Amino acid sequence: MFYGADYYPEHWPEERWETDAHLMKEAGINVVRLAEFAWAKLEPDEGLYDFSWLDKAISILARHGIKVILGTPTAAPPKWLIDKHPEILPVDNDGYVKGFGSRRHYCYNNPVYRQYTKKIVTAMAEHYKSNSNVICWHIDNEFGCHDTTVCYCDNCLEEFRKWLKERYGNINKLNQSWGTVFWSQIYKDWDSVIVPRKAVTSHNPSLLLDYKRFSSDSVVKYQKLQIDILREVTPDKKITHNFMGLFNQIDYYQLAKDLDFISWDNYPINHFSDKSDQIAANIALSHDVMRGVKKKNFWVMEQQSGPTGWEEMGRQLKPGEMRLWVYQSIAHGADAIVYFRWRACTFGTEEYWHGILDHDGVPRRRYHEVKQIGQELQKIGPLIEGSEIKAEVAIIRSFDNEWAFEIQPHKRGFKYMEQIKKYYKYFYSRNIPVDIISPEDDLSGYKLVLAPGLIMVNEKITDNIKNYVRGGGTFLTTWRAGAKRWDNRMNDQSLLGPLKDLLGIDIEEYSIIPDDENINIIFGDNEGTANVWFDVISPVTAEVLGEYKSDYLAGKAVITVNKYGMGNAYYVGTIPSDGIIKELLDKVTEKCNVSVTEIKGDEGIEIFRRIKGADEFYFVLNFNRKPSTIIIDKPMMDILTGKYINGEITLEPFGIKVLSNK
Ligand code: GLA
Ligand code: ZN
Repeated sequence: MFYGADYYPEHWPEERWETDAHLMKEAGINVVRLAEFAWAKLEPDEGLYDFSWLDKAISILARHGIKVILGTPTAAPPKWLIDKHPEILPVDNDGYVKGFGSRRHYCYNNPVYRQYTKKIVTAMAEHYKSNSNVICWHIDNEFGCHDTTVCYCDNCLEEFRKWLKERYGNINKLNQSWGTVFWSQIYKDWDSVIVPRKAVTSHNPSLLLDYKRFSSDSVVKYQKLQIDILREVTPDKKITHNFMGLFNQIDYYQLAKDLDFISWDNYPINHFSDKSDQIAANIALSHDVMRGVKKKNFWVMEQQSGPTGWEEMGRQLKPGEMRLWVYQSIAHGADAIVYFRWRACTFGTEEYWHGILDHDGVPRRRYHEVKQIGQELQKIGPLIEGSEIKAEVAIIRSFDNEWAFEIQPHKRGFKYMEQIKKYYKYFYSRNIPVDIISPEDDLSGYKLVLAPGLIMVNEKITDNIKNYVRGGGTFLTTWRAGAKRWDNRMNDQSLLGPLKDLLGIDIEEYSIIPDDENINIIFGDNEGTANVWFDVISPVTAEVLGEYKSDYLAGKAVITVNKYGMGNAYYVGTIPSDGIIKELLDKVTEKCNVSVTEIKGDEGIEIFRRIKGADEFYFVLNFNRKPSTIIIDKPMMDILTGKYINGEITLEPFGIKVLSNK
């Protein structure tokens, strides 16, 4: 198993490199990522390449048995390049040029930048093609980070017009699709089409959605430019990119397609995201999203190893905490862990972003923890090699739908992913593994497929879902399903559009639910609330499972199920409070026979399983800050101690166990 760190030798005197490599080796580190921001050191002036320092660093690491993942440095174009070609800089929607001085200051569609990208990538590929210590390429860094997916420059304008022409073929089709007759927006030819720069007020929602799709495609295409070179020059080296979990501006299914494997950057305890995002369930969801983009295991390329921070700082990791998050990563499909970063830098924007070592480079508690994990992984790694996660439940996450809700949230503040999190949390709390998949993925292997927020469907998706249910699958979707066409305009059919016969209901009327209004619903014996939205449903062929209790809605259906072919399709016309979601999903999972793990744990204990043939590996993770227990009803091997355990077992705060059924 690869175990590593993100290392920046260019930030330290050469005399230190040997010590670093030695300390790494001692900690069990066998891989590092290098150079992803080092363009100015690799090509100090146009065409003047200097790989000598990097060669030296790589050979020192190699002597210690440490392999290298090499970053292409395109996330940080050097000053000489920007001075020569300032047109590379990206433009925001106010028309302002985002200047030099941080990173990611380039437009994906700029033809000049594409040329320079080719040159530096080719030079690196040629230089390292026969270096067997370089095992993998890491393209650029966190595409889209710092809000850099979308650019509004003139190159983007031109490319957008081409992109539209390819998609729509003729301008009248575009006008029809976008409904440009509204507010006199009819475009008479391709050259008159705009990009959504700041206007007096909101742009056309179909234009906005297409611009998001185009921007995402632009990133995918830019990545492909690099991949094509690397595949040609260095066909034996793998290629990856570091993704960002729940980041939503790039269609990750598309971005993942051209890569050998994806990796991602995992900072569970940081200073920049909402506290509620940092809970274990949401990090677990991020892992599952990451595993889903390619339907296979992944790497963590930046695993948190210290307090985060730029201007402000996050808190210190408590003893055992880093280890716990590492094991959660592995449990959910990480085949390698690479920490960010080896050592905290003494200068620059990320001065306060701590690594395994502090600024002084002295090994302390976090280093010892990394070393302990390194030793443990020497036992666990070989056993779990080739193991995978097998889920019977899938949740569909569609970027197009997420974007449609981003453009029109319906109710202020509503977020597509927040609804998905609610459903996901149910499965998480029962330790039921979930795959997060695209609406076009094969559904046939799942017992249950959920698609919260599926406001737009196309023919392919509709057929995919209907075939699945017809063949005996269980499907659940929610309010607004099928309301819009794939071009983000309303369907002119009755609500639910092409999904109507699948769900067997009519939507009589609907509304957002204002914050000061309380609507109660009942499901079986349980009472709860409706949130964000309500649909007034009248069943056609469906059976009613839940009803409204309040106001003029009382007695009307809110949750239904319809038999369709050999399967069942559930519809939830609101966002029910958690208790109702639980009752509903208890019933649904029981009906379609979703398996649950035999290990029982206290609340706050996560249990996740990897499987290889008949071998099962259970990762038991105590996210509680207090000792907590699990109950095992048959002897299992505790891999770290080599002993069989059974019955009631206590885990210390942040404690973990890796158990095997053999
Ligand atoms: C991201 C980037 C890294 C670094 C860290 C810390 O994940 O990929 O280059 O900037 O954040 O800020
Ligand atoms: Zn641009």
